Amino acid sequence: MILLGIESTAHTFSCGVVKEGEILSNVIDMYRPPEGGIHPREAAEHHREVAASVIGEALKRAGVKLSEIDAVGYSKGPGLGPALRVGATAARTLAVKLSLPLIPVNHCVAHLEVGRIVGAKDPVLLYVSGGNTQVISFSEGRYRIFGETQDIGVGNMLDKFAREASIPFPGGPEIERLAEEGRRYIELPYSVKGMDVAFSGILTAALTCLKRGERLEDICFSLQETIFAMLTEVTERAMAHLKKSEVLLGGGVARNRRLQEMVRTRAEERGATFFVPPPDLCVDNGAMIAYTAELMYRAGIGVSPEPADRRAPSCEGPPRLPSPRPPLHNAPHHPSPPPSRPHPPGPCGTSGPRPPARGRPLSPPCT
Ligand code: ATP
Ligand code: FE2
Repeated sequence: MILLGIESTAHTFSCGVVKEGEILSNVIDMYRPPEGGIHPREAAEHHREVAASVIGEALKRAGVKLSEIDAVGYSKGPGLGPALRVGATAARTLAVKLSLPLIPVNHCVAHLEVGRIVGAKDPVLLYVSGGNTQVISFSEGRYRIFGETQDIGVGNMLDKFAREASIPFPGGPEIERLAEEGRRYIELPYSVKGMDVAFSGILTAALTCLKRGERLEDICFSLQETIFAMLTEVTERAMAHLKKSEVLLGGGVARNRRLQEMVRTRAEERGATFFVPPPDLCVDNGAMIAYTAELMYRAGIGVSPEPADRRAPSCEGPPRLPSPRPPLHNAPHHPSPPPSRPHPPGPCGTSGPRPPARGRPLSPPCT
């Protein structure tokens, strides 16, 4: 079966095509604001402009005709409302026109699931992106969060620092380049609280260094060494706590080679195996949405799109499709797929009672 996946949660509009768990194409178009941060309306405008050509290019590169697609997946959130709406509308239009199932995918779960493509089976995941910083693992039947940022995501912190240093968005890659030329370590606050981390104090201290006229390369070097050491520490603690022998990086910041080196070194010292997806599968991308949509579709999760005027308001979550497909050969080995609802949903916006288990569950919100 062939699935098309659309991503549009924030700065990126992307479309990927996946066949039987294999990625055939992954076209990414990132919105880069001329200055400052991302305005949701401007990002949505960008997505509207590029949507048709990105989808067309993804089909072309995959060598697949629209008529050969079996289902359409899209990022249902979390993300910026106006940007999300563009992807959801494009996906829904295709699904209605072609009478295909529509599969709403949780963006964060997709960042994690796509890591399985590089062979991780039961890892501790360090999910480091723009808005999220979490240590996640599969435990007692579901994904659980074992540690996370107490304030901003690590990528947003790097982007905020970059903005003040006149580095255009996204700041992470340029900070990585500058850090390689750093010569002096400037001490910055090291903020680990148990399994959690915090970045706003470090950001303030780094900005103070910038105002004081410290060398930018030295600040970038010190920033990376400090925050990546913190992330490595909490990841290792989760590995020890859960007795896991694999570690997987995910999210845009996972592209950073210094972070990869630090986590890989620590994992190997513990006798564990280190995994990181290829760079284009770390940042926001449509292939991870198509990949996760295929897993969900095979588990019978999806919706049959109907014209909007025939839909009744509901908070029941996506209805199950009638005939689940057989699982993929490289599908997660845990008994039930992570995006499924592990317990009956509560009223809209709640997810029912929490099980008494370690770690906080990562469950898709009621749609
Ligand atoms: P979320 O997944 O939490 O919604 P997002 O979708 O905005 O966040 P991604 O597209 O996964 O995030 O990642 C974008 C982030 O990754 C940006 O903050 C960017 O600066 C950062 N990033 C990209 N490449 C690198 C790099 N080489 N080093 C450090 N950071 C990087
Ligand atoms: Fe993301």
